[in-house]
Amino acid sequence: MAINIIPLFFSIFLVSFQPYFSVGQTVVKGGYWFPGSGFAVSDINSTLFTHLFCAFADVNSQTYQVTISSSNQAQFQTFTKTVQQKNPSVKTLLSIGGGGSNVNTFASMASQSSSRKSFIDSSIKLARSNNFLGLDLDWEYPSDSTQMNNFGTLLTEWRAAVVTEAKSSGKTPLMLSAAVLYLSYYYSSSVTYPIQAISNSLDWINLMAYDFYGPGWSPSSTGPPAALYNSGNLESGDNGVRSWIQAGMSAKKLVLGLPFYGWSWRLTNSNNNGLFAPANGQGLAGDGSIGYNQIKQYITQNRATKVFNVTVVTDYCYSGTTWIGYDDTQSISTKVAYAKGKGLLGYFAWHVGADDNWALSSKALQTWGA
Ligand SMILES: *[C@@H]1O[C@H](CO)[C@@H](O)[C@H](O)[C@H]1NC(C)=O
Ligand SMILES: *[C@@H]1O[C@H](CO)[C@@H](O)[C@H](O)[C@H]1NC(C)=O
Repeated sequence: MAINIIPLFFSIFLVSFQPYFSVGQTVVKGGYWFPGSGFAVSDINSTLFTHLFCAFADVNSQTYQVTISSSNQAQFQTFTKTVQQKNPSVKTLLSIGGGGSNVNTFASMASQSSSRKSFIDSSIKLARSNNFLGLDLDWEYPSDSTQMNNFGTLLTEWRAAVVTEAKSSGKTPLMLSAAVLYLSYYYSSSVTYPIQAISNSLDWINLMAYDFYGPGWSPSSTGPPAALYNSGNLESGDNGVRSWIQAGMSAKKLVLGLPFYGWSWRLTNSNNNGLFAPANGQGLAGDGSIGYNQIKQYITQNRATKVFNVTVVTDYCYSGTTWIGYDDTQSISTKVAYAKGKGLLGYFAWHVGADDNWALSSKALQTWGA
């Protein structure tokens, strides 16, 4: 392994690319918006954010071009203009993919030079023609070492294309980010993210530090869905952040994810209502997830008991046999203080439409400070 040449190569790369990216990204106080939330773009209080992600554009499974579905076109096209009305300096990124998209399409797109080119060229064109200032890739997730390697190649080529486009158009280069698993590897030490390519090519990465526990995949006990600390267990934001730093990512390129939603369980016994209490699947209708604004309503309407666990850094509430794990203002402020203390670039929320009168967004902003 040519480990000893990496630092030299890395520093040459940094010197030559320094002028083209990361300039001005001193902090990311971000939030995702998606049309399915039913939340109007014009209602986003963009003064509370430095960056807003518009989610999601799709990848065509045959042409590998990035497209915006016809039902989203009107809202996506005016997204930047609309959010900049309240905050002219807010930066917007078009987010591609997401948890609901087909992972096989990403894997096969990234596996060939011609399909990577289709993806890259169309994404840049789409961002420019819709007035976005950046692109965000949400491939959830590259899941074997070949896919990780191809992901790295894709990022390297994407950055080169963005630099070339900026030179020829005379415009500021598009920002490039990606939403990634909270860990620097896909659950196995042999399936690691391509750290060098990520570090050289992306302005930052969004760590999805949530969905650690949920009724769909851990039905038999309650759990802290987005624990910051989780003694003895892998699933925590702190483990994730430390894994990326240990793998060689600069803390300055890490942005910590904050969920503006929770997961519900049905308790086996209403008197056993703590973390990791026996449960039997979801507690609320649908997929068991619930937005923060609805959790607040649920608490009021059901006079639910609220608990903040400072060791784990999670909130939960319960009423009868319904139990909901989520992040309230104390969890949010503890996590934002953690992100700042660790020297991270910032934080992002999924998703802005689930906030409750901007309580969480304001708390995050206020905690980070100027
Ligand atoms: C938006 O946030 C700003 C800054 O916190 C606040 O002053 C303003 O009242 C908020 N606007 C709305 C409509 O909530
Ligand atoms: C917080 O949660 C941890 C993990 O379940 C538990 O050990 C601890 O007792 C809880 N703290 C309080 C104050 O309940």
